Amino acid sequence: MKHLLIILLFFLIAGSCQKRQEEESMKQLIDRVMPVAVEQYKGMAQLLPEGQFPRSISEDGRLKTSNKYWWCSGFYPGTLWYLYEYSGDEDIYHLAEKYTEMLDSIKYVTSDHDVGFQLFCSYGNGYRITRCPEYKEVLVQGAKSLATRFHPVIGCIQSWDFDDPEWRFPVIIDNMLNLELLIWVAEQTNNDSLYHIACSHANVTKNNHFRKNFSCYHLVDYDPADGSTRKKQTVQGGGDESSWARGQAWALYGYSMMYRYTKDDNYLNQARNIANFIMNHPAMPQDGIPYWDFDSSAIPDDYRDASAAAIMASGLIDLSKYVSEKEKNRYINFAQKQLRTLSSEEYLARGGTNHCFLLKHSVGSLPGKSEVDVPQTYADYYFIEALLKYKKEVLDE
Ligand code: GLY
Repeated sequence: MKHLLIILLFFLIAGSCQKRQEEESMKQLIDRVMPVAVEQYKGMAQLLPEGQFPRSISEDGRLKTSNKYWWCSGFYPGTLWYLYEYSGDEDIYHLAEKYTEMLDSIKYVTSDHDVGFQLFCSYGNGYRITRCPEYKEVLVQGAKSLATRFHPVIGCIQSWDFDDPEWRFPVIIDNMLNLELLIWVAEQTNNDSLYHIACSHANVTKNNHFRKNFSCYHLVDYDPADGSTRKKQTVQGGGDESSWARGQAWALYGYSMMYRYTKDDNYLNQARNIANFIMNHPAMPQDGIPYWDFDSSAIPDDYRDASAAAIMASGLIDLSKYVSEKEKNRYINFAQKQLRTLSSEEYLARGGTNHCFLLKHSVGSLPGKSEVDVPQTYADYYFIEALLKYKKEVLDE
């Protein structure tokens, strides 16, 4: 009898816990996560050496930081702007301002394509919120610097210089995100040339980076002599023909963003096709957090990539604004599932842990044995962005 009672009690408690979990609305979830994020990101500032930005956690368990030239330097200030937008917290505002303005000289960088990530996340969000004219100037100069990497014969911006002596003009799918700096500045300053560069890059990438099933290669190398493709390969994925999860996420986000600015249906359809590839992939787990590569032979005993899920969720919410009600619900439901998983104990760090990063379990470069199953500053950025987009677009707040 006693045993029976204990068993009954167990099921009652388990049942009520499950019910409580099911009952958390997205509004409650956002209001639970954001205050933790605000405190974590204030705490992060205490941990950072002067002049450094958060990057990840190193193999020996210490906070890994970077200088302003690392491609991720804009994500900490960008996340701070989002957190200020949510909370109105003055300390967060001052941190956002400080870490944004530390990136000022990035506007003159012409040696790689990451100026878009670095400046649009920091100064772009900063300008959206403050309307500070000096911030706009930085964005305008940054776009000019980025545009110097455009090759008219190829029709693309060169991503990296020559880390591999075999490459002549490497373009990675991640570069789609850098286009937002160009197209935003083009719109703000009526600059047709920047508009043309952004669209040309998106069109050429659409033609050459994608397979028939709308998955994409990580890197395409072009011949500057005639614009032909020389190689299609991966650097961070499992193999040249595999589908690296974050690459698919950049592609989805990039084409939905390009549609938002141009209203060109080719971009919308590209984004919808990429979304379908991602959401219907047989290797996509039920909880919506992809393995680091959709084709990894180690699945299901393999690493997940929280950063890819966060970027996908943000891209899907964006895309949901431009499609029919039925299609919209599919994207929102999928993004909601991803955000719920990312907000669970498995992925979201408890306050005061995780060296003040928000999310656990992202993968930087598994082939490079670098930053595997660790926090990443970009995972946090797109997670917070997606939660705020959900609040605005879906909850209409
Ligand atoms: N843009 C580099 C990465 O996604 O890891």
